[in-house]
Amino acid sequence: MSRIPFVAGNWKMNTAKAGAIELAKAVAKGATDGVQIGIAPPFVYLDAVAQAIAGSKLLLGAQDAYFEKSGAFTGEISVEMLKDIGVTFVLAGHSERRHVLGENSALVAKKAQAIYAGGLTVVHCVGEKIEQRDSGQTFDVVQRQLEELTPAMQDPSRVVIAYEPVWAIGTGRNATDGQAQEVHAYIRKSIAARWNKDFADRVRIQYGGSMKPENAGGLLAQPDIDGGLIGGASLKADGFLAIAAAAR
Ligand code: PGA
Repeated sequence: MSRIPFVAGNWKMNTAKAGAIELAKAVAKGATDGVQIGIAPPFVYLDAVAQAIAGSKLLLGAQDAYFEKSGAFTGEISVEMLKDIGVTFVLAGHSERRHVLGENSALVAKKAQAIYAGGLTVVHCVGEKIEQRDSGQTFDVVQRQLEELTPAMQDPSRVVIAYEPVWAIGTGRNATDGQAQEVHAYIRKSIAARWNKDFADRVRIQYGGSMKPENAGGLLAQPDIDGGLIGGASLKADGFLAIAAAAR
């Protein structure tokens, strides 16, 4: 089963307007066939970036979305609003939202559901903390987080899992090729059991956590690693495009 790899840049709370536009344009120039490339800038720059990359193959993503369509939810942004400006994928359950902003599993599930139901691609982030890995709970943690998605989500092209071990995010300490592949294989097996094998064979599973040009080749060569969710290394166009090239 050949899956088109998907490499996405999560800019987090970085860049200023001019730099965001410049970075987006540089990445857009390198977006070609053979691998899907996306960027998720901060909300306030999405519209300007959308205009800057119009007509290119670069996909525009958002780092978060609220699950209600509209109304009295001060500070929140809906899936409808994101669609309106050309966003096609949205992250749900990023570890920083779970562990820094305190989002619980029920909220992550509602957001993932809203993103999918709104017709966009959900990039659902899962991953264990170091103490959970050290105490042998990795698979259990990942399994519980996968259950935030439902088999009613039937279009495998719009369901992406990002396996991001929390201890590898922003630390410079990536999972080894073997550590990552082991969990990716587990995720695919778990999805096959909950949906079916065909669906599992089509779902892209990204690795995230200190992925950079130097380690991308080994990680992306693993049979169940179908791309990456890149934080720090997505803030420089050359390095980010080098990772994307390694995914082709
Ligand atoms: P990092 O972040 O590449 O800076 O480790 C990855 C992520 O949080 O998506």
